Amino acid sequence: MNKNLILIAVAVAGLSLVGCRGYRSEKPPIHPNPNFDWQSKVKAQTDPKALPEGVVVWGDAHGFSGAHTRDTFLKEDGRFYGGKESSADFVAKAPVQVTSDLLLRGQERFNIYCAVCHDQTGSGKGLVISRGFAPPTDLADARILAMKDGELFGVISHGIRSMPSYAKQIKEEDRWAIVLYVRALQKARTATLEDVPVDLRSSIK
Ligand code: HEC
Repeated sequence: MNKNLILIAVAVAGLSLVGCRGYRSEKPPIHPNPNFDWQSKVKAQTDPKALPEGVVVWGDAHGFSGAHTRDTFLKEDGRFYGGKESSADFVAKAPVQVTSDLLLRGQERFNIYCAVCHDQTGSGKGLVISRGFAPPTDLADARILAMKDGELFGVISHGIRSMPSYAKQIKEEDRWAIVLYVRALQKARTATLEDVPVDLRSSIK
């Protein structure tokens, strides 16, 4: 190989090593070999959140809801980050404030991430299915209607049977937004006249 080329290669390699030093990043460190470092085990052998003495937690990426600034690194809030109570039961209701912005965000995320399989109504006839992928459950199925919000959050986080996990692509705030939107879709497909305020019923008959 040409001597100059070798010199350039060494310089680039050197720079890329030196260049990484001293910078803080909001992103989690690259973790090439996960080796069971993260497991969805509810009962831990030791407290994984226990920090060595003198360690200062820093970093606060801004969540969509803006509500969990300090916690985005430690993820101590098991209800928000895990969808579970400390008793390990699923949370009944999404631990977020329901706003129309959050619902719209959920709609947008659902249409990006879920509709390819579940279709935009949630009935399960997405494009990917027409190409031979396992058909998903109808999201307005009585069993899914009866699920707690935390359980829906868990399906997005961990996947289920032939559905893959979306934890890497969708951060927690957005998972809750999607859960709220799934509830709205369910309502849209299962509501009856009884759900309409009495004084408005005549207008839709
Ligand atoms: C690649 C296709 C695909 C995508 C994308 C997808 N799902 Fe699914 N989903 C499935 C399939 C397939 C099933 C049925 C799994 C089974 O029973 O084997 C399913 C099942 C479910 C269930 C029912 C779980 C149960 O207990 O039976 C829920 C709820 C759900 N998906 C929500 C979502 C949401 C919300 C998103 C978007 C974040 C999403 N899915 C994205 C394919 C997908």
